[in-house]
Amino acid sequence: MITAPPHAVIDVPLGERAYQVIVGARVRELLPALLAGLGAGRVAIVSARPPEWDPPTGLPTLRLPAQDGERHKTLATVERLGQAFAEFGLTRGDAVVSCGGGTTTDTVGLAAALYHRGVPVIHLPTTLLAQVDASVGGKTGVNLPAGKNLVGVYWQPRAVLCDTDFLGTLPERERINGYGEIARCHFIGGGDLRDLPLVDQIVASVTLKASVVAADERDAGLRHVLNYGHTLGHALERATGYALRHGEAVAIGTVFAGRLAAALGRIGEDRAAEHLDVVRGYGLPTRLPDGVDATGLVTLMRRDKKATDGLTFVLDGPSGAELVTDVPEAVVLAVLAELV
Ligand code: GLY
Repeated sequence: MITAPPHAVIDVPLGERAYQVIVGARVRELLPALLAGLGAGRVAIVSARPPEWDPPTGLPTLRLPAQDGERHKTLATVERLGQAFAEFGLTRGDAVVSCGGGTTTDTVGLAAALYHRGVPVIHLPTTLLAQVDASVGGKTGVNLPAGKNLVGVYWQPRAVLCDTDFLGTLPERERINGYGEIARCHFIGGGDLRDLPLVDQIVASVTLKASVVAADERDAGLRHVLNYGHTLGHALERATGYALRHGEAVAIGTVFAGRLAAALGRIGEDRAAEHLDVVRGYGLPTRLPDGVDATGLVTLMRRDKKATDGLTFVLDGPSGAELVTDVPEAVVLAVLAELV
C-alpha cells in the first residue's frame, strides 16, 4: 500500500476488491512496486502513448500499441489483445496495464476481465477524462454498431495511477473534454470545483466517484447519478459519429438535464441557468451541434441502458439528482428545440 505524499491517495473501499487511486506528478513510477505487490510474474502493457512514456515494470513485459478513440473500442480489439496475451503466455498470475484515454482503459479493462476469466489490471489513465472518471469504478466495455458501451463487465482494477505529467501533453480540445465529467460533479454532490487547481479538481472528482461506487458498485441505484448528462450525451456521440467527444457531449447533456428538470418543475430557472454557467465556465459546448435531428436523438435515448421504463434521465430535483423514468417525449423534444 502506497500512502506517502506528495501524491494524493483516494481509497475505493470495495472489500476484497478495494484499491487505491493515486494522483500526482510521476506516479507512474510507482508501477513496479504495485506489480511486485500483486506478485505478478510478467506484464502486458497496452499503451496508446509513445513507448518513451511507458514506466518501467521490473518484469518481463509485452508492449502492445493501442489507439484511443471510440472507433477502436470494439470486440475486435478485445479479441486482438486476448490473442496477443495468449501468444505471450500471460497467465492469471501475471498482470495487464492499460495506458491511455478512457476508450483504452475501458477496452483493456474488458480484455483483462475476459482473458482466462480475469487477470489483474492496473490503469494508467493519460487523459483528464480518463483520470476523473473512466478509469475508476470498474466499468469496462466496448461499443457495438447499435450503441455505446453495450457490451461490458464490472472488473475493478487493482490500482489506478493518475499521473498528472501526462496531462501536459494533451491537445487543448482533449484537456477541455475532460472538464465535461468535472462539470457534472457540480450537480451530483461534488460541490463547486471551478476555482480549484487541476490536481484538486481531479482528487475531488475521484473522491466523489469512489464514494458513489463504494455505495453502489453495480449500478443498482445511486451510481446512476454518475451518468448525469449522459443520456443525451451518449446519443449525441452516436448521432455525430463520435465527432463530438464524450466530455463535450456530456456537457451539452448536462445543460439539457438542467433545462429538462426545469421544464418538469423539478428545479427553478435559476438552477437551470447554473447548469449553463458551469458548463460554459469550463469552456465546453452548451448547444446541440448543427444538423443533429431531435427525433433521431430520442430514438437513440430510448436505447440507453437506463431506459427500462420509457425515456429515462438523471435529473436534479428537490432531493438532489435522481433517476426519472417515463419522461414525456413531447417535453424532451421541446427542450431539445431550445438547445438548437
Ligand atoms: N461513468 C459512469 C460510471 O462509472 O458509473
